[in-house]
Amino acid sequence: MSTDTQSTPKPPLRVIVVGMGVRSMIYTRVALTNPELLEIVGVVDTDERRREYARVTFGLSPENCFSTVDELVAVPKFADAVINGTMDRLHVSTSLPILRHGYDMLLEKPFAIHEEEAQELLTCARETGRTVMVCHVLRYAPFYQRFKQAMESGEIGKVINIRMSAQVNYFHESVSFVRGKYASAEICGSGMLLTKCSHDLDLMAWLMGSNTPKRISSVGSMFQFVPENAPEGAGTRCLTDCPVERDCPYSARRLYIESPQRWADNVWHDSNIRRPETDEEKEAILSTPDNPYGACAYRCKTDIVDHQSVLIEYEDGATGTFSMTGGASISNRRIHVTGTRGEIYGTFENGRFTISSIAPQAPDGRLKHVVDVTEAQEGRHHGGGDREVVLDFIAYLRGEPTSPGKTLLEDSVNGHRIVFLAEKSRQANGAMLDW
Ligand SMILES: NC(=O)c1ccc[n+]([C@@H]2O[C@H](COP(=O)([O-])OP(=O)(O)OC[C@H]3O[C@@H](n4cnc5c(N)ncnc54)[C@H](O)[C@@H]3O)[C@@H](O)[C@H]2O)c1
Repeated sequence: MSTDTQSTPKPPLRVIVVGMGVRSMIYTRVALTNPELLEIVGVVDTDERRREYARVTFGLSPENCFSTVDELVAVPKFADAVINGTMDRLHVSTSLPILRHGYDMLLEKPFAIHEEEAQELLTCARETGRTVMVCHVLRYAPFYQRFKQAMESGEIGKVINIRMSAQVNYFHESVSFVRGKYASAEICGSGMLLTKCSHDLDLMAWLMGSNTPKRISSVGSMFQFVPENAPEGAGTRCLTDCPVERDCPYSARRLYIESPQRWADNVWHDSNIRRPETDEEKEAILSTPDNPYGACAYRCKTDIVDHQSVLIEYEDGATGTFSMTGGASISNRRIHVTGTRGEIYGTFENGRFTISSIAPQAPDGRLKHVVDVTEAQEGRHHGGGDREVVLDFIAYLRGEPTSPGKTLLEDSVNGHRIVFLAEKSRQANGAMLDW
């Protein structure tokens, strides 16, 4: 075989973006930094401004810009794959026709909002033979990749218990899960456990490998953001009728105007308008009676929980717990695995974990060492997973080596299933449910 043939560079993966929102803007940066790997050739978005963003940014021809998936599948296939970055409730309904039309897909999590939908998507992917990769970006973060390696090394023996937690700080909680687009399960399709922590339960399922859950129970509630907890004398909107706004941690003025680094971008993005430039413009937006971000955080009438715990018994008798808490002073994800020969524990945001193993011969009876991935994760959102998942998707479709944590649909099923069952249990007062 001639070496010329072997060294011919592969063409970039040609992709259509469906749902050109915040997440798709992040994933499609690869097309801007590495045009040799990814080319955006089309867009579907119901919002004209988002279509226009894609058309201008990627130099799309107008006939490749569609407002609905129905329009996309009415024309012959013209790309290799789709990045589906629509909101939770739309994932399955938009994916089915696209897969049937012959496109492979990188799909945002949660890939479905309940068990029946999940089954429908799995069946469709199987029947059409299409690849679906799910954006469980944390699996690609060096912290979790190395953590998995450490568990598999056998250094801590057989896992007895895995405990994980995720807490969401108060300004992220309020902008996303109290005032924002994830605050209503009725509108978004997901509760907080699914939309925020399907990542964590996916990680737990992945780390536990072939050890599948046997029974699951869960409890949780909306603890904090209810009208009874509003500060005494509080009004209904921070900027218009609240005399205690200056003393409230959830003051919209303080969070979104005076401290823009506290996730205020989400406010202007979701207000579906251009980014305001002056404080006066921001005040006017937040004062608009129907703008959710200016409303009292305690009177938003969200229909989701702000804390939830999940208890899992595994097939081999090991146990697992996961706790999610919204409204903390700091966001973090912690993990502690105890095995028959030692423990591994750490905090994702610190970029370090400790391996401590039983060593009777050692002076203090144990050996301890720290794995440090701070440099690899430094300044990279989701520890670099946002970019890595796209690169892995490209590599998979090109038949090149992929990450050991790759998140094909079938690899992602157990994490989602844990959430579906946990939610069912929570609604049944914490009943212990069989897998
Ligand atoms: N993997 C992660 O770490 C991570 C992080 C945050 C959010 N998410 C998930 O990403 C998804 C998208 O979130 P986002 O913040 O980018 O949302 P977004 O609202 O910014 O983007 C969604 C886009 O879909 C468009 N859209 C709406 N209806 C449509 C339709 N019928 N057909 C095509 N397009 C349509 C909207 O106009 C919008 O541009 C959500 O499911 C969310 O849960 C994942």
